[in-house]
Amino acid sequence: GAHLSYRDGQLCMESVPLADLARAHGTPLFVYSRAAILDALAAYQRGLAGRRALICYAMKANSTLAILKLLADQGCGFDIVSGGELERALAVGADPAKIIFSGIGKARAEMARALQVGIGCFNVESLAELDVLSDVATGLGRRAPISIRVNPNVDPKTHPYISTGLKGNKFGIAHEQALAAYRHAAALPGLQVVGIDCHIGSQITEPAPYLEAMDRILDLVTQIEAAGISVHHIDFGGGLGIDYNGDTPPAADALWAQLLAKVDARGFGDRQLMIEPGRSIVGNAGVCLTEVLYLKPGEQKNFLIVDAAMNDLPRPALYQAFHRIVPLQLPAAGADAPTWDVVGPVCESGDWLGHDRALAAQPGELLAVLSAGAYSMSMASNYNTRPRAAEVLVSGDTARVVRQREAVADLWRLESV
Ligand code: LLP
Repeated sequence: GAHLSYRDGQLCMESVPLADLARAHGTPLFVYSRAAILDALAAYQRGLAGRRALICYAMKANSTLAILKLLADQGCGFDIVSGGELERALAVGADPAKIIFSGIGKARAEMARALQVGIGCFNVESLAELDVLSDVATGLGRRAPISIRVNPNVDPKTHPYISTGLKGNKFGIAHEQALAAYRHAAALPGLQVVGIDCHIGSQITEPAPYLEAMDRILDLVTQIEAAGISVHHIDFGGGLGIDYNGDTPPAADALWAQLLAKVDARGFGDRQLMIEPGRSIVGNAGVCLTEVLYLKPGEQKNFLIVDAAMNDLPRPALYQAFHRIVPLQLPAAGADAPTWDVVGPVCESGDWLGHDRALAAQPGELLAVLSAGAYSMSMASNYNTRPRAAEVLVSGDTARVVRQREAVADLWRLESV
C-alpha cells in the first residue's frame, strides 16, 4: 500500500523505518498505519456519501483499543459478536446506539447487558434466539431492536471456512424462511423489528456475489413490508476482500455505486444503510515484524526459522492463507535469494508463515509479514506459552506503543497449583 514503502532501502510505515521499531520494542511486533486505516475507511465514506448510513466496523478483525478509538472518533459504529467485544467498544466511549450485535450464540447475560446499555440492533440468527431475546427484553421491561440475518444463499467464491451465506452453514436464517421469521418476530412482545441483515462471507474479491445478494435482500424487503412490517434499515454485512497476493477486489466506493443503484431502482433509497466491514478497514494497514533466527537448509526443503509463529499469525495454518513476506532492509542487487519455507518455533508442522519464498535473509535480519492488520492479533493465542506480541500505531513520523508485549508471568496469573 501507499503507506508502506522502501526509503533508501529501508522499509518504512508512513515515515517511520520499521527496523527502528523492531529494535526499540522487540519482535514479533505488529505495526499499524493510522493513515492506511483512515484511507480504507474513506473509500466507504465516499461510497455512502449523501446517504443515511452507518459504518459498523466488525471489530473481530482487530479489536485493539487504539484502533477502535480511532474509528469511533471518525463516527463509526461497531459490529460486535460477544459480551467481551461490547465491553471493548464501551471502553473507548463508543455510542451504544451505533453498536450492532451479530452472532449465532448470544447468551442471556450478553443480551441483557447489551439491552441495558442500549445498543442499536441485535442481528438475530435463529428462531430460538428470537424467543430468548424477547424473553430477556420483556424481563427488563424493554423491547429489543432487531434485524434478522438472512442467508441469501449466494456463493461468495472464497475459502469454505470463511463463506457464511450459503445453505448448509451455521449462520443466518434461510431466505425461504425469512418472511415467516419476520412474522414471528413482529408478534413477540419484547422485540421491535428495525431492519434486515445479511453477510455472505469474507475476503470476497468479486462484485457479482454482492450484487446478487442485494437483489435477494431487496426482494425480501418488499415481501416483509407487504406483510405490514417496516424495515427501517438494510445492513449489508462486511466481507470485502483485500490484496494479499495480487488479489483485485473492487474498491469500496465503486462497489457501493453499483449497490446503491439497485437500492434506488427498487425505491429503497430512503432506508438507512449499514455495513459491517472488518478486514477491508484494517487488513492492509498492518504488518508483523519478525527476526530470522536460523537457516536450516535441507534435502527437500529449506527452512527459514523466524521468531513469529502460528500463535501470532494463525491465518496460514488455519486457512492456508498467503501473506507476502519481505525484508526490512533491501538486499544488495544480485544477492543470492534461495527458496525457503518460512516457519515459526511452534512445535507443529502446520506452523508456517509462507511456503517457497525467495529471500536473501540471514540470521539476525528482520522481515515483515504483510497484510497482517486483520484476523492476526485478534486471533493470536498463547500456544506453547508464547506471550502475545506488542502493537505499535504509526502516524506520520511518530510511533506509539498501543499494546505492551505480554509478560510470561501474565500467562499463568489465573492459574493455581
Ligand atoms: N459481519 C459478520 C456477521 C461477520 O461474520 C464478519 C466476519 C464480518 C461482518 C466482517 O467480515 P470482513 O469484512 O472482515 O470480511 N478469520 C477469517 C475471517 C473470518 C470472518 C468472520 N466473519 C480470516 O482470517 O480470513
